[in-house]
Amino acid sequence: MAETETSPCHTTGECANGGHSAIVSSGTGACGGDGIPVVDFDVLVNGAADQRAQAIRDLGRACEDWGFFMVINHGVSEALKEAVMETYKELLSLPEEGKAEYLEAGPMDPIRIGSGFYSVVDGARYSRDYLKMFAHPELHCPANPAKLRDVATDYAAKTRGLLLQLAKAISESLGLDGGRISEALSLESCFQILVGNHYPPYTGPDNVGMGLPAHSDHGLLTLLFQNGVDGLQVEHDGQWLLAEPLPGAFFVIAGDQLEIVSNGRYKAVLHRAVVGGERARMSFVSMVSPCLDAVVEPVPELARDGQGLEFRGIRYRDYMAHQQSNKLDGKAALDIARVQRDISGRIEQHN
Ligand code: OGA
Ligand code: NI
Repeated sequence: MAETETSPCHTTGECANGGHSAIVSSGTGACGGDGIPVVDFDVLVNGAADQRAQAIRDLGRACEDWGFFMVINHGVSEALKEAVMETYKELLSLPEEGKAEYLEAGPMDPIRIGSGFYSVVDGARYSRDYLKMFAHPELHCPANPAKLRDVATDYAAKTRGLLLQLAKAISESLGLDGGRISEALSLESCFQILVGNHYPPYTGPDNVGMGLPAHSDHGLLTLLFQNGVDGLQVEHDGQWLLAEPLPGAFFVIAGDQLEIVSNGRYKAVLHRAVVGGERARMSFVSMVSPCLDAVVEPVPELARDGQGLEFRGIRYRDYMAHQQSNKLDGKAALDIARVQRDISGRIEQHN
């Protein structure tokens, strides 16, 4: 692996509010270390009209400039997050026999346990073990650990509520009705996945390796928290930044469906996971996506003057299967939905 690909770079960005201390009192519009935007969920949902309007503008800026932010005051308890991590840890320590039926299931199977990204195509080159479970409209989960079903049900419901509220605010931030994105993507019957990631201690060459290469997520919005070991990096202004969470915060990652539905106004963000050091890293992901049968296309209101739409409609199920069945390659998967233009900007005909 090329040196440049693996070295974690930690660049200090600018933060008008001066970093962590201003966050809670100022609500939204604040930013954490490295300038990563921070969204105060409580203000977004319960704030007075003017506070809320400001929070929506700040959220829009976070989506437009970063595609990545932290959310605080989100109402998901630390106890539930801890239960999720503990239960996932228990699952990891179960003997292989109990997990064999899920090992390397196909990309559209509802329960999958594996290593790397999809080892059929990537040869498990990456230092990552995962558990993926479809969580909505129906939760699928391994029978053991016994408490997994209850914990996952609770966590899926709470985080789905949070992500759907964020989708509503994001819709407003685009100048649309709060329900417009939801309507376009049939979010009332959204598809949701939970993913547990485990990155073992890594003491290979240079002590730095790749857990997950640069990619964008195939869904709409991804919520992520980790076990206190950093390693998530996001691309911002052409640089890789190490994302360090505020205490209790979730990371939110804009996915490919947000880029499509917003006609490219809000781009899916490239991110990756690096590993290094003696401590295992764990992260837990809750991703909300359009209904599997929704045909996702840009909302026409967001067409740029005279330029038409940037993406053609694609059924989410087909998009997900495509992204999950191929090697992870940055944002290449989005090209199957992108309208190709010639050098003068004219749309090239598809066969
Ligand atoms: C993912 C992902 C990053 C991390 O699961 O899609 O990007 O920090 N994970 O584990
Ligand atoms: Ni990701």
